[in-house]
Amino acid sequence: MSEGESPDLTELAKRRGFFLQSAGAYGGVSGFYTFGPQGAALKDNIENTWRDRFTVQEGNMEIDAPTIMPEPVFEASGHLDGFDDMIVECPDCGESHRADHVVEDNTDYEEAEALGAERVGEIIAEYELVCPVCGTGLAGQAIEEFNLMFETNIGPGSSSPGYLRPETAQGIFVEFPQLAEYARNQLPFGVTQVGRAYRNEISPRKSLVRVREFTQAELELFIDPEEDEPDLSAVEDVVAPFYSAEAQEDDDGEARELTIREAVDEGLVADPWIAYYLGVATEWYERIGVDMDRFRFRQHLGGELAHYAADCWDAESYITGDWVEIAGFAYRSDYDLSKHDEYSDEDYTIFKQYDEPVTVERPTVDPDMSYLGPEFGGAAGDVADALETLAESDPDAFRDAADDPEGDGTVTVEVDGESHEVPVGQTGFAVEEVTESGEHILPHVVEPSLGIDRALYTVLDHCYREDEIDGEERTFLELPAEVAPTTVGVFPLMDRDGLGERAREVAADLREQGLSVAYDDSGAIGRRYRRQDEVGTPFCVTVDYATVGEARDEDEGEPGTVTVRERDTTAQRRLPIEELPETLEALRDGDLEFAEL
Ligand code: GAP
Repeated sequence: MSEGESPDLTELAKRRGFFLQSAGAYGGVSGFYTFGPQGAALKDNIENTWRDRFTVQEGNMEIDAPTIMPEPVFEASGHLDGFDDMIVECPDCGESHRADHVVEDNTDYEEAEALGAERVGEIIAEYELVCPVCGTGLAGQAIEEFNLMFETNIGPGSSSPGYLRPETAQGIFVEFPQLAEYARNQLPFGVTQVGRAYRNEISPRKSLVRVREFTQAELELFIDPEEDEPDLSAVEDVVAPFYSAEAQEDDDGEARELTIREAVDEGLVADPWIAYYLGVATEWYERIGVDMDRFRFRQHLGGELAHYAADCWDAESYITGDWVEIAGFAYRSDYDLSKHDEYSDEDYTIFKQYDEPVTVERPTVDPDMSYLGPEFGGAAGDVADALETLAESDPDAFRDAADDPEGDGTVTVEVDGESHEVPVGQTGFAVEEVTESGEHILPHVVEPSLGIDRALYTVLDHCYREDEIDGEERTFLELPAEVAPTTVGVFPLMDRDGLGERAREVAADLREQGLSVAYDDSGAIGRRYRRQDEVGTPFCVTVDYATVGEARDEDEGEPGTVTVRERDTTAQRRLPIEELPETLEALRDGDLEFAEL
């Protein structure tokens, strides 16, 4: 078990097939987990609800890009230079640690990354912090930058380096020119992707919370920052706790409950698109089983912003005894598209058509090279370029020179730090009138980036319950039916007298209805209920003697009926067998409450 994990949850996760450390037979490697049958099903269901909310309901398009990309992509994105964590190495045992985590774990400082490497080094010295493994003092040790990307070679040899993507987002950005075509070049449009991302974390910890291979579910929304506005009315009444940067800096500061509309009107969330997605995400987290009393949005402090982000809020959940980031909502401006536009051979702009064509003045120059050549020698070409730039940025400099009453006015340009004066008559300056139907703009990006592993861990932690049934202790997961790995457990009361056969037929009918079914005929019926409770199965169906028309008296149930039991209340109802598939489907989809049966 790694530091910060909930012991009961970790034990349950392994025993019941949610997740376990990978390759345990070979000693295991920190930061890699295998999802067992229950975990893989839960993860799929969580991803499907995300897909429903962030792709289908929002009218976005989903893509699936490779997880390995060539080096130039990450040169352009800034990850090669800027995707670093602070590392400090123990002088004795040689173990490496995240320096900001050493500070956070042993002092009152929070978000130590925002303090910068120098200050973190000072705090390590001031507090005489030691190596978490061997206890040797770390004061005076260098705080280095460590790039988190996994490097590989594409093909044999080392001439074509590649990297495992550290975020799914870049797979969307690089394809922007083609994706814009698919969207008929109309802003705003959104592209989603759910898939694996890889980070060579210095110290993976807290179970699924900080791992080296994980799943992200990201939406990149491309907008025209001057025109596009979200329809806030769809989420304006959603209430969430907001923990502002100001509150974080105040000793008594706390998160405040506000509606999305209030957060925008107060100016707390500066960008309405970010506010919109905070609302969408709140609804989604609640839908998958996150406890809203252990959930908040936290604004990034200035020094904490990622290299691409202009404004950023995190969704956080209270797990592993601490507040943990489970999603980031960033206003990435035109950072990514401008970089790919600059570094690649493609055009990452969109042509924005004006409502009406507009007539604009366009200043031009046509310098007389027979004058510039002899006058400026080898610098003549650069002087001509500088004149062109000046005409665009300051056409009045040419007009003023031309208006000089002496008639010998000059314009001044700088080339390599040296000023050159050029008579305006030799510049060929003119102003043309041109009619333009639109302009090329770089869209801005709004990004809700959700971590699926942390969402899954949160859901398990927040849905974990212990109670007592008939004097016996019970552990169960109060998972929403929509995300539970199994929707219904089907049991024969006993595997004899035709009950097992009938129960297997019931299970097959339910599977045909598209329900996820677990058939279980081993052990006492109470034990079978407990097994399903532990993995969060919301309903169980028992086939008994009444079902096959052999009840000893009427109290045992009408012929052709089964018992349906609800996990949370353990209440039971008898239902005609033919109503079972539709009823269970409606219960799973939230179209019917168990109490209504
Ligand atoms: N594209 C933006 C981006 O990647 P991020 O805040 O670095 O932003 C987004 O990551 C989410 O991915 C996080 O909120 C978290 O849920 C998840 N995540 C990031 N690193 C992780 C790790 N090492 N282990 C598990 N989940 C991680």
